[in-house]
Amino acid sequence: MIASVSTVAYLGLEARAVEVQCNLVAGLPKFAVVGLPDKAVAESRERVRAAVAAIGLALPPKHIILNLSPADLPKEGSHFDLPIALALLGAMGVVDAEALSGHVVVGELGLDGRIAPSPGVLLAALHAAETGKGLICPAAQGPEAAWAGSVEVIAAPDLIGLLNHLKGSQLLPAPAAGEVEAPGHGPDLRQVKGQETAKRALEIAAAGGHNLLMSGPPGAGKSLLASCLPGILPPLDAAEALGIM
Ligand SMILES: Nc1ncnc2c1ncn2[C@@H]1O[C@H](COP(=O)(O)OP(=O)(O)O)[C@@H](O)[C@H]1O
Ligand SMILES: [Mg+2]
Repeated sequence: MIASVSTVAYLGLEARAVEVQCNLVAGLPKFAVVGLPDKAVAESRERVRAAVAAIGLALPPKHIILNLSPADLPKEGSHFDLPIALALLGAMGVVDAEALSGHVVVGELGLDGRIAPSPGVLLAALHAAETGKGLICPAAQGPEAAWAGSVEVIAAPDLIGLLNHLKGSQLLPAPAAGEVEAPGHGPDLRQVKGQETAKRALEIAAAGGHNLLMSGPPGAGKSLLASCLPGILPPLDAAEALGIM
């Protein structure tokens, strides 16, 4: 039986769709990951093997092939562990592969089945929102993923918790969008002595969203004035904060 799970590969600040397909075929027991995996992805075999053992399951004595498609796209990072594990469990018939088809899955696995954070969850969540899917991610990153807005986020602490949630026997709570750390504002406009015209120009630029050109000799206070600008801008809303991420 072939099971497939959606995940993403990160290319700079972009998340590209990747399909993890798992097939179990008769033959000598073997566990192979193909589809241009880098070292961290190839090593996920060992983490997945241990995590599956940790929830009390044995790998089937078959030739296990995991394909990361599209095969010509380089795959980097440890976030492929969880989709690989779920594709494998889907092929073994432990989880319903159909139930997973509406989700993008990212997360690193510990040897004990714990789901550990991996960088880039917000990108994966935004990708899931674009494609109309939900997201399965590490519990620690649920609040970050929830920033993507309209995405159904399942933030699981460990593999067993996730399987129980998928079966419906013990539902995980939906994460709420996390707090945003208020950024340090730099110097206050009050510290600028004199320069009334320049300060007024700064205020008008901040209020109206205009560009600003400062010209003057070195030491005139251009850098100081520019560093005061964030302090008088209105706070960012969620969409703006995501935009300048
Ligand atoms: N109007 C001002 N009020 C208070 N400090 C000033 C003022 N203008 C300049 N300074 C101080 O003088 C130094 C040089 O200013 P800076 O902003 O680096 O100049 P510029 O970028 O125009 O070369 C900084 O330490 C700054 O704090
Ligand atoms: Mg300067």
